[in-house]
Amino acid sequence: SESKLQLVHKHIRAFPDFPKKGVLFRDICPILKDAAALTAVIDLFEEHVRISHQQVDLIVGLDARGFLFGPLLAQRLGVGFVLIRKKGKLPGATVSVSYDLEYGKAEAEVQEDAVAAGQKVLIIDDLLATGGTLYAACELMRKQQAEVLGCMVVIELRELNGIDKVKPHSVFSLVQY
Ligand code: PRP
Repeated sequence: SESKLQLVHKHIRAFPDFPKKGVLFRDICPILKDAAALTAVIDLFEEHVRISHQQVDLIVGLDARGFLFGPLLAQRLGVGFVLIRKKGKLPGATVSVSYDLEYGKAEAEVQEDAVAAGQKVLIIDDLLATGGTLYAACELMRKQQAEVLGCMVVIELRELNGIDKVKPHSVFSLVQY
């Protein structure tokens, strides 16, 4: 799938000093704008899941850009999608966890009845930086007694070692910087 990866790569832009000085922001908006690039992302994720995981019950996506790719992948796989949101956005009983970001602090939440004990889930987001966000998602799934099969991102920023933070869970990425 070299050409699909090249297509994805070509549709990621970099913006220096956003949202803060010293941060090089990787922008995935061009992927969403290009039908072939978006299809390539979902194709590559689907191929990975079909090769690596036998039974997947749910795709769990992170606020906000995990919502762009997660439901598309879930639909391809014929499974449901669950939202992890920033605190205060979800109605009803929720489970929450606080975490550190590359630039700030945040709290993530999931609805208590979103995932049942023992369900096998894959967590998806656009990007892995420090790993704080995916770690929080794994923590939420642990509290729900779900089984995390692994995490998936479009982009991995290698120098921040986010992979270590998410261990022992694996992180599959399409593009690495
Ligand atoms: C970005 C990105 C990931 C997270 C990765 O989201 O979309 O979710 O940061 O960083 P980490 O690995 O250091 O935790 P952000 O928190 O900016 O929220 P947004 O998607 O709502 O803009």
